[in-house]
Order: sequence, then structure tokens, then C-alpha cells
Amino acid sequence: MYKIAIVDKMHEDGISLLEKNSKFKCEIIEDLSKENLISKLPDFDGITLRRGKIDAEILEKCKKLKVISRHGVGYDNVDIKFLKENKISLLVTATTTSTSPAEHIMFMILNISRSFNLFDESVRNGKFDKIMHMKHNSFELFNKKILIVGFGRIGKKLIKKCLGFDIEVLVYDPFVDKKIIESLGGKKINSLDEGLKEAHILSLSVPLTKDTHNMINLEKMKIMKKTAIIINTSRGGIINEKDLNTALDTEIIYGAGIDVFEKEPPEENNPLLKNKKVLLSPHAATFTRECTSDMAIQTAQNIIDFFENNVNKLMVVNL
Ligand SMILES: NC(=O)c1ccc[n+]([C@@H]2O[C@H](COP(=O)([O-])OP(=O)(O)OC[C@H]3O[C@@H](n4cnc5c(N)ncnc54)[C@H](O)[C@@H]3O)[C@@H](O)[C@H]2O)c1
Repeated sequence: MYKIAIVDKMHEDGISLLEKNSKFKCEIIEDLSKENLISKLPDFDGITLRRGKIDAEILEKCKKLKVISRHGVGYDNVDIKFLKENKISLLVTATTTSTSPAEHIMFMILNISRSFNLFDESVRNGKFDKIMHMKHNSFELFNKKILIVGFGRIGKKLIKKCLGFDIEVLVYDPFVDKKIIESLGGKKINSLDEGLKEAHILSLSVPLTKDTHNMINLEKMKIMKKTAIIINTSRGGIINEKDLNTALDTEIIYGAGIDVFEKEPPEENNPLLKNKKVLLSPHAATFTRECTSDMAIQTAQNIIDFFENNVNKLMVVNL
């Protein structure tokens, strides 16, 4: 029997899939502190990982560990170098984690472009008439340009939604061939700055790496249009939060939608929490009935497939 640690609770559909399989004995670990992980995890053959950071110091103690199944596709919360050097497999939920995030990005674009929170608030607060005579900053998406940075699973889902709104799509992803981008209706952009200059909307769907950390800072925002909006649902740290706040306050850009933060939950003194020009969500791009269930099932299925020597190649980061 294999011992599986479920690090951070996930949807019951995934937990029950493992629990009803006689090959596995599961334990849910809800205390994600380093002290707790370092004391509990050495006992397990496999780990499912939602939130919680598993660094090399923890992994060194996990002598029985054979596989980590990440609940999600980003894996910046685990030491991939250690896993590779020690032949511990890492699997992700590759095919279930793109539809909801792409819809979340589209929702943020629509909400910000139509000042929706302001409208909702004005009706509730008796400002129905007043809002009618305001100068409107809301804008149509028709004939605008979006720059999608990162054209992987989410970027490829997002492009269809943008084209449906007659938005012209520019793509910056040095690792994706021009022909693939064009076949899906986009235009490949070879320099980030060139795309930033043209875009009315910027959406980021890249992993957090040394190259993407602080990819969008004040200098980059200054290249953009004053009317531009930025959406980040990928990872905190890809946009510099302090710079974003400054750019919004000083009208360097118009608005932003932020789902992910450098520190989660964001600290109370994070200036973005008080800034009305930014729409916020709590790392919630996958929080739908469908996606939470599907991701948990796939996380569990990856564990089952691993121990049955039947891994789906699409899920593999390291095998
Ligand atoms: N907010 C959420 O709940 C949520 C949900 C799912 C994914 N995510 C995040 O979104 C990211 C993207 O997800 P995905 O499934 O599309 O990943 P993916 O791996 O399918 O695609 C990422 C793309 O980014 C490109 N890329 C890498 N480095 C780049 C760079 N420096 N410049 C431009 N492009 C670069 C890659 O070539 C790839 O095409 C994930 O890494 C994860 O961090 C967040």
C-alpha cells in the first residue's frame, strides 16, 4: 500500500477517488507551515500539492517519495531542480486548467472595459441619474488590440474568446512558432516592447521563472498606451505590484485586473487593495464547479496512473 499526502485540501471528488482505491492510504495535511511539512512528509510515497511550498530542505527528508502530483499547472512552489536530480516525478493537471482561467481573463477584460463595478455601485447607492451625465471612460472591445504574453494552454483558449469580440490578437511567446499563432488567428510579435506599444489590453499567461519575474515593471508600463489595461492571472511577481500601483495612480495606464499576488494572501498594506482602478480576485481563476472538481480528479488520477505505470504524457513535467 502506498501512502499519499494530500497537501492542502482539494475537491472531494479527487480525494474520494484515491480513498476508494485499496492501493492507497491517504492523509490530508492542512497545516502548510514548513515545520509541519518537514515533520509529516518523510513518511509518504506520493504527494498531491495544491498550496504550500515544498523546498529542497523538505524534499531531502522525503527518502520514500516517488511522485508529486500538482493540483494546477504552475510548479513554482516546488524545487524542480531537486526533483530532477533525485528522479522524483512531477505531474500537473494539464488538460483541466485552461478553460476557467481563460474565461476569468475575459470576464476581467469585460468588467474593466465597461466600468462594471462602478455601475453596480451607482445603482445600489442611488446614483442612477448622476452616472448618466458623467464622462464615460468605458470602452468598446471592437477593433481593439490585445497582447497575449505566453501562448500555451490558456493563451490558446483565450484567443478564441478575443476573436469572438472582434479584438485583434498579438502574441508574444518566443517559444511558439509563427505558423501556429497565425493558424489560430493571431499575429506573432517578436519583441515585447513592440507589442506593449500597440496593445490596448495586455494579458499575461506565462509561468513564473527568472526570465518572467518583474517582466512588467514601470519602465514597460510607460511604453503602453495611457488607456491600456493589464490582466495578470498567471503568477504574482511577474508584474511589479508597487510599479503597477504607481502606474495606475499617475495615469500611465488606465486599469488592471489582478488574480495573483507576490505574497498570497496579500499583506494588509499592499497598496493595490485600496486602489479602485484595479479589479481583484483571490487566485480564483479556476474556482468554478467544473474546474475545481476536474482538477482534483486529475490530480488524483495522476497518482493512480503513476503507480500503475500508465502516466499520461501530457501531464509530465518530470518523469
Ligand atoms: N490564476 C490561476 O488560478 C491560474 C490557473 C492556471 C494557470 N495559472 C498560471 O498561468 C500560467 C500559464 O498557464 P498555461 O497552462 O497556459 O501554461 P503553459 O505552460 O501551457 O503555457 C505557458 C506559455 O508561456 C510561454 N513562455 C514561457 N516563458 C516565456 C517568456 N519569457 N515570454 C513569453 N512567453 C513565455 C511558454 O512558451 C508557453 O507557451 C501557469 O504557469 C500558471 O502559473 C494560474
